[in-house]
Amino acid sequence: MSRRARLLGIMGSGVAVIPSASEKLRNRDSHYPYRADSYFHYLCAFPEPEAVLVLVAGSEPRSLLFCRDKDCDKETWDGFRFGPDAGRETFGFDEAHSITTLDEKLVELLANQPALWFSLGHDASWDARITKTLNAVRAQGRDGKRAPAEIRDIRMAMDAMRLIKDEDEIALMRRAASISVRAHHRAMRAARPGRFEYEIEAELLHEFRASGCQAPAYTSIVAGGANGCILHYVDNNRPLKDGELLLIDAGCELECYASDISRSFPVNGQFSGAQADVYALVLDAQTAAIAAIRPGANFHAPHAAALKVLVQGMVDLKLLHGAVDGIIESEAYKRFYMHRTGHWLGLDVHDVGEYKDGEQWKMLEAGMMLTVEPGCYIRAAADVPAAFHDIGVRIEDDALVTAGGCEIITRDAVKTIADIEALMAE
Ligand code: GLY
Ligand code: MN
Ligand code: MN
Repeated sequence: MSRRARLLGIMGSGVAVIPSASEKLRNRDSHYPYRADSYFHYLCAFPEPEAVLVLVAGSEPRSLLFCRDKDCDKETWDGFRFGPDAGRETFGFDEAHSITTLDEKLVELLANQPALWFSLGHDASWDARITKTLNAVRAQGRDGKRAPAEIRDIRMAMDAMRLIKDEDEIALMRRAASISVRAHHRAMRAARPGRFEYEIEAELLHEFRASGCQAPAYTSIVAGGANGCILHYVDNNRPLKDGELLLIDAGCELECYASDISRSFPVNGQFSGAQADVYALVLDAQTAAIAAIRPGANFHAPHAAALKVLVQGMVDLKLLHGAVDGIIESEAYKRFYMHRTGHWLGLDVHDVGEYKDGEQWKMLEAGMMLTVEPGCYIRAAADVPAAFHDIGVRIEDDALVTAGGCEIITRDAVKTIADIEALMAE
């Protein structure tokens, strides 16, 4: 069943209004590259801005597209537009109309409907437009027309759908993952002392774009030495130094689907003893986390498994002192590991979907996609052995929950110390 048909079934009744993203100005009259709204894309993949999907649920469910008209002059300057007729044909809508008729048509479509499904609060200008439309319906009260009594959040219904990936999504995410794997390998081969972080970022972007990706899924983190201890470092403007680690967190976006990989490796191709100790610890933590991913386990299980290994290692390396359980309880480990071990992944890099059902962590189910990304970040400090100063390690892969456990769709990105050193020596 199509995603629109499934959502119409979940709605049961009422009308959903799902706008795509608007174009965003970057400066003066230059725009950022256009990126569709993820919810809109999930339901129709219509690629143009100024487009709105309207779903009418009930005994005769319908899906309607509102989009820009054909316009020879504008198409000469800015490129092809489908227009309503080709939009309806190509994307399988029941009806399609000019976007210029949306407000008027919505007043008709919303009259005497029990509910409006909308993402209230996402975009202030859309909130105002919807308020105005509802008031226009209310103004027809003496004609016997009622506005919807209920406003429901369409995101809640869609987040649950998006959490379980279908076959098409999984296929796309596998492709995105394999492109990102190649990009990380290219970056490893290119890294050496004296090169700048942005030069390595350029290698990643080259591989993404040359492979047909539209964009990175998020700004690439290319962090040499102490920068690896800054979780969201994106300046990417420092030279790489001999003896440092380089932490890269980068993934491409393919047809709006994200991949998300982190690798940490020595700039000169050889791990020092202390770097190898920390790296091996994080890799062990990741192995434990991956082993905890299976249907019926909960979302917290991989984090708990990783934490146990990491904290024991931090004690063994004399970064922390005390009993493992006490350190986990007091959260003293957060000095060196301050984020969680994963998040949902999909159309958005931090994808939608609840993490809890009530008070309980969400149970993992086949078809869910999540990252597994333990790390250890050791800033220079007087109470930390000098050999560990400025070592930042994160190892991140993308896991598809399967009937029997999980499949790491980014598994081809080299990860053991021996494999990294061998690739860098090529
Ligand atoms: N790249 C963002 C993250 O790993 O969550
Ligand atoms: Mn991530
Ligand atoms: Mn990441």
